[in-house]
Amino acid sequence: MTRPLALVVLAAGQGKRLAVRDDSPPKVLVPCLGVPLLEHVRRAVEPLQAAETVVVTGHRRDLVDAWLAEAWPAARPVLQAEQLGTGHALRLGLEALPAFAGDVLVVYGDVPQAESADLQRLVARHHEAGADATVLTGVLPDAGALGRIVRGAGGRFETIVEARDATDRPDVLAIREFNTGIYAFRVEALRPALVNLSRANAQGEEYATDAIGRIREGGGVVETTTVADGAAWQGVNDLADLAAATSAIRRRVATAHLKAGVDIVDPDTTVIEMDVTIAAGARILPFTHVERGCSIGAGCTVGPFARLRGKSVLEPGAEIGNFVETKAALLHAGAKAKHLTYLGDVEVGAKANVGCGTITANYDGVRKHRTVIGPAARIGSGTVLVAPVSVGEGAVTGAGAVVPAGRDVAPGTTVVGVPARVLAPRDEETTS
Ligand code: UD1
Ligand code: CA
Repeated sequence: MTRPLALVVLAAGQGKRLAVRDDSPPKVLVPCLGVPLLEHVRRAVEPLQAAETVVVTGHRRDLVDAWLAEAWPAARPVLQAEQLGTGHALRLGLEALPAFAGDVLVVYGDVPQAESADLQRLVARHHEAGADATVLTGVLPDAGALGRIVRGAGGRFETIVEARDATDRPDVLAIREFNTGIYAFRVEALRPALVNLSRANAQGEEYATDAIGRIREGGGVVETTTVADGAAWQGVNDLADLAAATSAIRRRVATAHLKAGVDIVDPDTTVIEMDVTIAAGARILPFTHVERGCSIGAGCTVGPFARLRGKSVLEPGAEIGNFVETKAALLHAGAKAKHLTYLGDVEVGAKANVGCGTITANYDGVRKHRTVIGPAARIGSGTVLVAPVSVGEGAVTGAGAVVPAGRDVAPGTTVVGVPARVLAPRDEETTS
């Protein structure tokens, strides 16, 4: 019979090395491909269906707690007022689960690449072995600042030593196996091991890792299981780690789209954030950035050098070309904007063509306004559409036209000039 599982996520740290600006968010809310680091963790733990979820928050907890209430309502925030270390944070997390009996999965909030399969394997190993503690470990040629897994005779787990406490121990630093910061515990073994943890270490902190050493010393069973891809489990501590995690997750997301039939010509230069819907058969050309929440239909072509923002929607067969930015744009089937264009807060009708250099001037300095372009309309090169404004079905704007706010272009008419005026039938004869 499987024992109930509680999840404790440690998310109280400041992330000093990521806080490069005054307005930097707390570490766990730093965005990575459109969602916070903690959201990546939430998604990884979700399939484990923990009976209880506790998230230890502290640094700028108002922001983290507000995010939890919105994005992870099942999680209970627990305050760690002073960040006295991972062991201290874990103890507070367990104090919020006083009556819980079962297993506790501990996850640090700064491992956005955590994958459910590895977490499931950890819990399964823990159960099979009937262990008191099971540590998820990784292997890297140089484990840098990470905690090292020290093994004794017969490869048996002994303890975890932080790199910062091993500066004079090259034998320890040479160990390639490191602690990922993910553990499964039998709660009955963990509770006593967290009492009176020492702070006599390089960081003056209570270490969660010491609790594992203690369980082992006290005769408890400590197991380990090792992830296949050690690099993915290093955690995000500085901007280089963040860039590495972003790049790895970006590749993972692109691969999923490729496998689903999306033709991403060059995944290395294409950024598709989380939660983007792309139909099979769509084609994404290099140097394109698609933000979270956008949607791209079958047969669409996007890029090269395109940027889709603000939940833009491309219906089937729509085309977005080079140096085109869309924000909260809805392009109906077969609509096209192929060159050098800004389409913000706009609806573009089916088969409409938006010429090179078109701009929807959506911002009057105070408020954003909408533009509606009708089906089969043709917007001439260099047109400025000052919102709010609409261009009717089949209407045409001449090159360089400026259509002022509120001066809607009637269906089927042609407007030219600055400000745009309707082309008289006589003019039409001379220009045709
Ligand atoms: C920790 C491990 C190290 C492991 C590494 C993996 C310890 C002592 N060391 O080191 O063995 O290799 O993770 O990434 O555990 N936190 C709190 N409250 C605190 C301190 C930290 O909630 O008082 C949270 C942080 O927000 C973070 C997580 O715990 O999400 C890990 O803390 P961090 O300071 O990044 O630990 P590392 O030095 O990376
Ligand atoms: Ca860390």
